[in-house]
Amino acid sequence: MVLKVAPSILSADFSRLGEEVAAVDKAGADWIHLDVMDGVFVPNLTFGMPVIQSLRKTTTKPFDLHLMIMDPERYLGEFRTAGGDRLTVHAEATKHLHRTLQKIRELGAAASVALNPSSPVSLIENVVSDLDQIVIMTVNPGYSGQQFIETVVPKIRQARELLKANGNGRQVELMVDGGVNPETARVVEKAGASVVVAGHAVFKQPNYEKAIADIRGRQRKLATA
Ligand code: DX5
Ligand code: ZN
Repeated sequence: MVLKVAPSILSADFSRLGEEVAAVDKAGADWIHLDVMDGVFVPNLTFGMPVIQSLRKTTTKPFDLHLMIMDPERYLGEFRTAGGDRLTVHAEATKHLHRTLQKIRELGAAASVALNPSSPVSLIENVVSDLDQIVIMTVNPGYSGQQFIETVVPKIRQARELLKANGNGRQVELMVDGGVNPETARVVEKAGASVVVAGHAVFKQPNYEKAIADIRGRQRKLATA
């Protein structure tokens, strides 16, 4: 399987966001990762629906919304309307995870749940059949450009095992977010990741196309050779 790459616009030049999204689209991004922060669940604030909605015009690639907000169920409809194709909530931020995931699917989006570095995989064991994506955080959410936390790698393997054990042929993506670069991408891919988020490792590089190809590794190059 070819590793998918979702550049996180948190590391982009915010004065030229539209151009930045178009540039990573052209450079081969599979999805666009948008980090929404509320200053409560995480110690940082970013952007909300109006920004997402205006960026929607700049690309047809799927929008992967990472909602780092408390009680995300309050805004799911609005994030969907703004252009979110895949909606990630944090298991730590919603009281009724099952209901929240059902709501996302009812809205016609892919239902995704993220786990902070300190949260165990067992938190999502009972909702595997309600999921389209699991996100394993390899940094504490809040900022781009942080160091990859190595000790989380076994959790990626556990999540892959959980998906295998519950396998019903449905494609559930296993995403890794935080500190991914060409080197750590190989580690998480080996552990079972199917898609990685990359902020600094794309937007702080001079050549986005090369940066994305390097993170994806040699498989895609061979596949398209
Ligand atoms: C962290 C965000 C990440 C972040 C990734 O809270 O969820 O998506 O932008 O940035 P890098 O790849 O630089 O760690
Ligand atoms: Zn993110």
